[in-house]
Amino acid sequence: SPGAPPGPLKFNGTKLVNDHQHPWKPLKHGDIRGPCPGLNTLASHGYLPHNGIATPAQIINAVQEGFNMENSVARLVVYAAHLVDDVTGPSPQAPANAAGLNTHALFEGDASMTRADAFFGDNHSFNETLFDEFTAFSNRFGAGKYNLTVAAEYRFHRIQESIATNPNFSFVSSRFFTAYAESVFPINFFIDGRQGDGQLDLDVARGFFQNMHMPDGFHRASKPMGIEGLEIANVHPISPGANVNGVNTYTPDPSSADFTTFCLLYVNFVNQTVCSLYPSPTGNLKKALTKNLEFLYYPFSDQCSQVFPYGND
Ligand code: HEM
Ligand code: MG
Repeated sequence: SPGAPPGPLKFNGTKLVNDHQHPWKPLKHGDIRGPCPGLNTLASHGYLPHNGIATPAQIINAVQEGFNMENSVARLVVYAAHLVDDVTGPSPQAPANAAGLNTHALFEGDASMTRADAFFGDNHSFNETLFDEFTAFSNRFGAGKYNLTVAAEYRFHRIQESIATNPNFSFVSSRFFTAYAESVFPINFFIDGRQGDGQLDLDVARGFFQNMHMPDGFHRASKPMGIEGLEIANVHPISPGANVNGVNTYTPDPSSADFTTFCLLYVNFVNQTVCSLYPSPTGNLKKALTKNLEFLYYPFSDQCSQVFPYGND
């Protein structure tokens, strides 16, 4: 049965995190890495088990300690991922899965910045062609740095690119939200906390995205951070939707949550995504799901009413 989620950091300022207790180590045979450069880096520096398999509590501690991710954001992301992409313990029963964070359309999604769409075969490995585009946009809109202006333009570009090339392109909730959040994460977390000017150097970016490597002397963010900068979504507004009949057939999906219906993100995630994986759980599985759903609700609790797909007892 899952333990209680860790609370916020006691000391939540900047500090050296690429320290002598957390040196970068190369991958060993059997180590697992996924589509997230943040978690990959934490595993390669020993903030998470080097093999890449971790519990929700370990991940919350690691993203707080290593990157100063804010507690409620960390909880939301971790329990959302855990509920759909469980990577610990014995394999759950079908249709749930334990293939981890790469599992397409649960947490992983299309139009990533440095990873290709699942349709093209590999949705998790660093993709040099895409990093070249990331670089070109940083040169064109950020004078050689990745910043919020670049984030807005490159996010829009990746969506347009998927519309034009991926017949299966899908961009509905939750991906609709995570795509924008992940576009600002490099600015919030990959810039040294002593620098704080919002301008991410491209060599530093490559270190994280490709090599899972913090720069020498790297200091985490100077205060707890989450989705600051999400307003980049307003620069080129797009409705959640999908290509419905091949490339260039992007059609808005009014049943998807968007930025005006934040609670629907939570409700659809629970009632559709989680319930499709676990239609009628019983016994300890039901208990564990209920507990994890409780943990997931916490970051939404000041704005949204709780839903109880498996009853309320
Ligand atoms: C992408 C999970 C924390 C930075 C992703 C993806 C997943 C994920 C599944 C793939 C989505 C996609 O692009 O298709 C998680 C979980 C976290 C977490 C469960 C637990 C809190 C972090 C942190 C950072 C971070 C702390 C930064 C330090 C990123 C970035 C991407 C990403 C930049 C986009 C990669 C790209 O588009 O090429 N994350 N993440 N994540 N994550 Fe995380
Ligand atoms: Mg992806």
